Amino acid sequence: MAIPHPRDIQLAVVEWLDERYPFTKAVDEALYQRVPNFANAFYYCFGGMVFILIVLQLLTGILLALYYVPDASGTPAPAYTSVNFIQSTVFLGWLIRGTHFWGANLLIIMVILHMARVYWTGSYRAPRELNWIVGVTMFLLILAFSLTGYLLPWDTKAYFATEVTIKLAGSLPPVQLGTFIKEILQGGAVVGPPTLQRFFTIHVFLLPALIVLLMYIHFRFIRAHGISEPM
Ligand code: HEM
Repeated sequence: MAIPHPRDIQLAVVEWLDERYPFTKAVDEALYQRVPNFANAFYYCFGGMVFILIVLQLLTGILLALYYVPDASGTPAPAYTSVNFIQSTVFLGWLIRGTHFWGANLLIIMVILHMARVYWTGSYRAPRELNWIVGVTMFLLILAFSLTGYLLPWDTKAYFATEVTIKLAGSLPPVQLGTFIKEILQGGAVVGPPTLQRFFTIHVFLLPALIVLLMYIHFRFIRAHGISEPM
């Protein structure tokens, strides 16, 4: 029997899949789109760079989570020692942690540049108002990522910085709302092990799920509207 050419096997597999669901059409629609000439200006790439940075944060975050221990009980706390272990012992741990740290900083700068571009070209106006609102929500989520991530190393700086941010959130008016947010975030009378557990959960489960969902909506909107014409 003649051995089939790899290309024929590939075609047969694609055909088999396409008979069950139009995958080829879906991939074509997702990947191929004419981009207008005016979008060649360098500042139109900021949104794409934000996307690449978020993917990098997700990948390096998953690698960090392989060794990080979200436990603040005892002295020294496993959270603190696990970060030291990543930094000094794990193969390329210093690089993964450094990339996650600097990626987070660069991300904030790029999101602000992207927002400035959208504002500068007046792209927040009709019919793109909803996408602007989705954008602002993602910006707030990114700030929440920074805030929750800052506590995770569980060192003195992280502890006291978080104490201040929780106090600030706790003083939000009306009093009941402020107190409620403080209690939810802190999980006890003072910043302690339950706070770390909560910040970790928000940082690695809640926020990534929300941002991936909102990015999907953001991109669907962009596809629906097309890139806005320069003013
Ligand atoms: C997770 C963060 C974000 C990602 C991954 C992202 C990604 C993108 C991409 C790839 C584009 C296509 C054009 C371009 O790159 O300039 C775009 C357009 C747009 N973005 Fe974002 N963006 C994010 C955050 C934001 C924020 C914070 C705002 C505003 C508050 C915003 C508002 C918009 C609007 C209104 C458009 C349409 C612009 C036009 O049609 O010219 N985005 N975004």
